[in-house]
Amino acid sequence: MNGQQQAAPHTVPGVDRQDARQVTEILQARLHALNDLALTLKHVHWNVVGPHFIAVHEMLDPQVEAVREMTDTTAERIATLGGVPVGTPAAIVAARTWDDYDVGRADAVAHLGALDLVYSGVIEDHRRAMKATGELDPVTQDMLIGQLAGLEQFQWFLRAHLESGGGRLSTAGAHTLQEAADRASRGTGPA
Ligand SMILES: [Fe+2]
Repeated sequence: MNGQQQAAPHTVPGVDRQDARQVTEILQARLHALNDLALTLKHVHWNVVGPHFIAVHEMLDPQVEAVREMTDTTAERIATLGGVPVGTPAAIVAARTWDDYDVGRADAVAHLGALDLVYSGVIEDHRRAMKATGELDPVTQDMLIGQLAGLEQFQWFLRAHLESGGGRLSTAGAHTLQEAADRASRGTGPA
């Protein structure tokens, strides 16, 4: 993480300005990931087809709403700490470390497989951010803990469609969105 020598111009009382700077950098990365996730969930809402269309189409809108709420809380925490939240599309594209969602019109299960991988990436990075902010700013950490509970529950909603009775996830071992979509489409039979 760069910029650790720079302090925030001002921040909340009782927080070191350099710590605040570090926290806002962590949060900016989470803001990009959440903005990206909200857009991606809508993309799937529009492109899902097949027999499970309505179930998945309708399952995703509450997730979009909740994730949008998370982006708002995260951006406002950055501002509260003295930072400048950046929410423009070009900034997301420039900063992101993940592939753009590349599944277009496809069966519900294929999208759910790809989304499982998307959620895994967001959740892993969110958990790292949660751990990193524990010492620096427990108020921010508390916010991230709440968000993680929601994100993990949403991933469970997806995974319940991808899991066999024996608990095997059809997307296990997938490294790309396409791979996850293909594995999900094939189902939870033996690998
Ligand atoms: Fe809609």
